Amino acid sequence: MSPITGKDTVASLQARLEQTERQAHARQRQLERYAADLREVFKQERARAQELRHSYIATVRALSNAVEARDAYTGKHAERVAAYGMELARCCGLAVEDSPQIEFGFLLHDVGKVAVPDAILFKSGSLTEEEYSLVRRHPVIGSEILRDIDFLGEGKLVVRHHHERWDGRGYPDGLEGDTIPLAARVFAVADALDALTTDRPYRPASSFADARREVLRGAGSQFDPVVVAAYRQIPDRTFEALKESL
Ligand SMILES: [Fe+2]
Repeated sequence: MSPITGKDTVASLQARLEQTERQAHARQRQLERYAADLREVFKQERARAQELRHSYIATVRALSNAVEARDAYTGKHAERVAAYGMELARCCGLAVEDSPQIEFGFLLHDVGKVAVPDAILFKSGSLTEEEYSLVRRHPVIGSEILRDIDFLGEGKLVVRHHHERWDGRGYPDGLEGDTIPLAARVFAVADALDALTTDRPYRPASSFADARREVLRGAGSQFDPVVVAAYRQIPDRTFEALKESL
C-alpha cells in the first residue's frame, strides 16, 4: 500500500483503513486455520504416542506373564513386585509417571530364567555349585535377551542389577553402594518384601509387619539405607492393599 500523503481525502483514507482492516482480518483467519491444523496434528500425534505406549505395555506384560506362567507357585510375583517397587520408586523421587521403563524393568526382572532348566529352577533339594552358578546367570541372560529393545531404556539396568547388594556382595557385577542403579536398589527392597510375604514350600508367608522388621535389618548391608528410609514412610496397609488388588 502507498504511503499516506497530504493529497489523500477523508474518503480515500477511510477506504485505505477499510482495506487494511480486511487484510488484517484475512491474516487473522489464516492464522486461526494454521493454529487449528497444528492442534489437530498434535492431537493425532498424542493419540499415536498413546497407542504406541499401550502396545509397549501390552508386549512387556505378555512377556512377563510368559515368564510367570512357568512358576505357578510364585503366582503374580512380577506384578506385585512392580506395584511395590513403583510405590517405593515414587517415594525415592524416581520419575516413574512420565516414563514407564522402570516398571518394565520390574516386570521383566527374571526374564533370564527362561534359560534355566525346570529341573534346576524347581529342584526341591539344595543346588549343586554348578546349578547355582547357572541360576546366578539369569540377570546377565535377561539383559542380553532385552539388549536391543530400546524402549525398555533403564528398565534393562533393573534386569541386570536386580541381585546386586548395597555391600557389594551381590551379583552379577558385585556393584556396591550408589554405583548400583537406583531403580535396581529400589527393586531389591520390593523383591524382598514380596518374597517374605508370600508362602514358600519351606515356610509360610510373614505378615507385612514382620517383613518390615526383616527389611529394616538389611539396611546398609543388603539394601540402600536411603531406599529403606523411604520404605519406612509407607505404611504396611499400602502394600497390603496393593497385594489384594492384584
Ligand atoms: Fe532374579
